[in-house]
Amino acid sequence: MAEPLWQKNGVQMDARIMRFTAGDDVWLDRAFFLHDIAASKAHVEGLAAIGLLKSDECESLRRELDVLAEDFSRGSFVLDAQFEDGHSAIEARLTERLGDVGRKVHTGRSRNDQVLVATRLWLKERLVELDGYCRQVARVCLDRASREALPMPGYTHLQRAVVSSTAMWFAGFAEAFVDNAVRSRDTLAWIDANPLGSAAGYGVNLPLQRDLTTTALGFGRLQVAATYAQLSRGKFELAALEALGSAMLDLRRIAWDLSLFTTAEFDFVHLPDEYTTGSSIMPNKRNPDVIELMRARYASVAAARCEIEQLLSLPSGYQRDLQVSKGALFHGFGQGLPALALLPDLLGRLTWNGAALRAAIEPAMYATDVAIERALAGVPFRDAYRAAAEAAARTGEGRTPEQSLSARVSPGAAGDLRLEDLRARLDALDDVAVAHPAGHDAVRPPP
Ligand code: ARG
Repeated sequence: MAEPLWQKNGVQMDARIMRFTAGDDVWLDRAFFLHDIAASKAHVEGLAAIGLLKSDECESLRRELDVLAEDFSRGSFVLDAQFEDGHSAIEARLTERLGDVGRKVHTGRSRNDQVLVATRLWLKERLVELDGYCRQVARVCLDRASREALPMPGYTHLQRAVVSSTAMWFAGFAEAFVDNAVRSRDTLAWIDANPLGSAAGYGVNLPLQRDLTTTALGFGRLQVAATYAQLSRGKFELAALEALGSAMLDLRRIAWDLSLFTTAEFDFVHLPDEYTTGSSIMPNKRNPDVIELMRARYASVAAARCEIEQLLSLPSGYQRDLQVSKGALFHGFGQGLPALALLPDLLGRLTWNGAALRAAIEPAMYATDVAIERALAGVPFRDAYRAAAEAAARTGEGRTPEQSLSARVSPGAAGDLRLEDLRARLDALDDVAVAHPAGHDAVRPPP
């Protein structure tokens, strides 16, 4: 490894200890290296605005930062263990190319605000991506809810309860994913604050142009208090993982339903062939591995959240513990987003077995309808309930699921789904959609 930035007074580094403190940091920094470079460009622009860099120095630095970004993207610059971390690599490269001018880049900044700003830019992109997937899932669910309304059993406690429909099943997840998109946006707005210029966490004796870097980097506002910038490290990562976790919670329920519904015992759903795999020993098997792995990804997101939450038991100010939050963050998003990315296609292409759904509806499932009809005719509900309970097995004979569904006029039920209200919320989100970023390929695993 090259000499670290902080090497001084002839103190020798111990290789084993360096390996321990650096850990896999330099590889993790690949995930947001381009953001670190973008923030460095804004920083040098700010330094030029207060006369700390001459305009030609600023231009050289910005040009070299662009070249570094290109070299990194094309693979001709490799961020690896020859550097302590990505931040050091930027300064080393600028110094190698520009000599003393390169050595000026770190004026008035610390790796503490550098890692914060790079992480935050990365997080904003991931939340835009999350928002996009949530809206796609909501759109597919809404379309299917308005196209098909096959009767199916509605369960409570996994026991047959009342007549439901595939439209009700899809409508529920449509509204869930509209909410998940809203949560993703609210979280993005919440974290959209520029920490650059807080330096090590206490500011510096320079009139840094923090408003300028805020605008240049596209932040919604300045994160004002230098001390809060450090307090927000991990806290904002946690908020983003919570927004992701909210979508993953619904994804896990969908996966659970589908893993039940595709069993021979239910036989309600057929998955597209690509979503199943065979067994190495049992020639008869088609297994729903994809939905099981989607369900499992919830655990990775929850683990990331848990790890960061545990790390945050810290006093004020920067503590090196915070470095560990990066691995958890990248793992959580790296596992969660690709599962969500598959969901629109899966939901759009699964097919229902209408006959099996209908065969699973038994007469007792009309008992609630019968009791309420009698209550409508003036019988006190508790008496109507008891009468229906006594004859539950026969009470619904001769009724059809379609009658039950169309009579279910309580708003949000099958007779009054109000899909247009959900569509209006979704259209409003689409109208102000932020452009889709590069995608989760930016989450590069260590080699
Ligand atoms: N790799 C470090 C991190 O992620 C960068 C900041 C280092 N700051 C320091 N004071 N050692 O936290």
